[in-house]
Amino acid sequence: MSQSADPVTSFAGAKVMITGGLGFIGSNLALRLVEQGAEVLVVDSLVPDYGGNLANIAGFAERLRVNIADLRDRHALRVLVPGQDFIFNLAGQIGHLDSMKDPFTDLDINVVAQLGLLETCRALNPTARIIYASTRQFYGRPDRLPVDEAHPLRPVDVNGINKMAGEAYHTLYHQVYGLPIVSLRLTNTYGPRMRIRDARQTFVGIWLRRALEDGVFEVWGGEQCRDLCFVDDAVDAFIAAAATPAATGHVYNIGGPPPVSLSELAELVVALAGAGRFEQKSFPEERKRIDIGDYWADDARFRAATGWAPRVDLREGLRRSLDYYRAHLSAYL
Ligand SMILES: NC(=O)c1ccc[n+]([C@@H]2O[C@H](COP(=O)([O-])OP(=O)(O)OC[C@H]3O[C@@H](n4cnc5c(N)ncnc54)[C@H](O)[C@@H]3O)[C@@H](O)[C@H]2O)c1
Repeated sequence: MSQSADPVTSFAGAKVMITGGLGFIGSNLALRLVEQGAEVLVVDSLVPDYGGNLANIAGFAERLRVNIADLRDRHALRVLVPGQDFIFNLAGQIGHLDSMKDPFTDLDINVVAQLGLLETCRALNPTARIIYASTRQFYGRPDRLPVDEAHPLRPVDVNGINKMAGEAYHTLYHQVYGLPIVSLRLTNTYGPRMRIRDARQTFVGIWLRRALEDGVFEVWGGEQCRDLCFVDDAVDAFIAAAATPAATGHVYNIGGPPPVSLSELAELVVALAGAGRFEQKSFPEERKRIDIGDYWADDARFRAATGWAPRVDLREGLRRSLDYYRAHLSAYL
């Protein structure tokens, strides 16, 4: 598939690689692209503490190829990258607290491995269109709301610094070498296939688990507001970014429906689950130091560039998430 200035109207037959494709967002994206007829190659290291899970591709595993490989392995990349039309680059270490406890692993995965992928693309496949999964995390504590892309970047943890550097390398490789790259700064994303075993991926995961088990979960603070994005809307954003050549070279915020406070969110989780309860507590010290407070995105630039908008409201997204985990709980515990 050659790159042109026209929007991509079909991914049928396109060769697509998804790094981190056994993880939460990557597997939802893989499912969508398989349904659209793409030839999908999923590359994932399946490190136990991260979000990768073979259960995430149950039901469609025979319709894609899986390569258990580590993005840090540049020899593997030299085999995997050639011939791909699109590379959705979602592999990452995502735990904020984990990045403080083990900063060098975060650096290796979120920066060094990213540079390795870009170097491999430059050398062996400079026309592959790359969509990078960036994050709102490195805006830090917002000066103003909603946060647009011109907001200062002030990461509050090691993960934020490394993701910021990872994005900067992607932007640089577009500017200097012309690699066709788009970067999406995602807000908190939730939905089926996320890690719910613990709070490593997002607090929403452990809340859903505890509610389904009719247990208790903790809400730290509670007045902070967030614009949670349902995963199908995030997948739509990746597809729209890949399909829109005019988006090339840009960095975009991806937000969600209107923001809610965490205590409103917790009440909704309990009401929809019909089980569980929560306790409001003050922040544990180690978390407080890296919390960003209120955040919601101004994603008007991406909407204008691609026509994308979030379609799933919070109530519907939580309902679909709870239904999914009710049916598949044991695969996620
Ligand atoms: N979920 C969110 O709310 C959110 C918000 C902002 C940004 N993001 C970004 O989106 C991307 C996907 O996040 P997710 O929530 O799906 O997380 P996830 O942990 O479910 O997925 C990441 C995947 O990457 C894999 N991986 C990690 N290191 C790897 C390596 N060295 N080589 C190969 N694979 C490796 C993991 O095994 C996992 O399957 C990440 O880059 C993350 O920083 C996510």
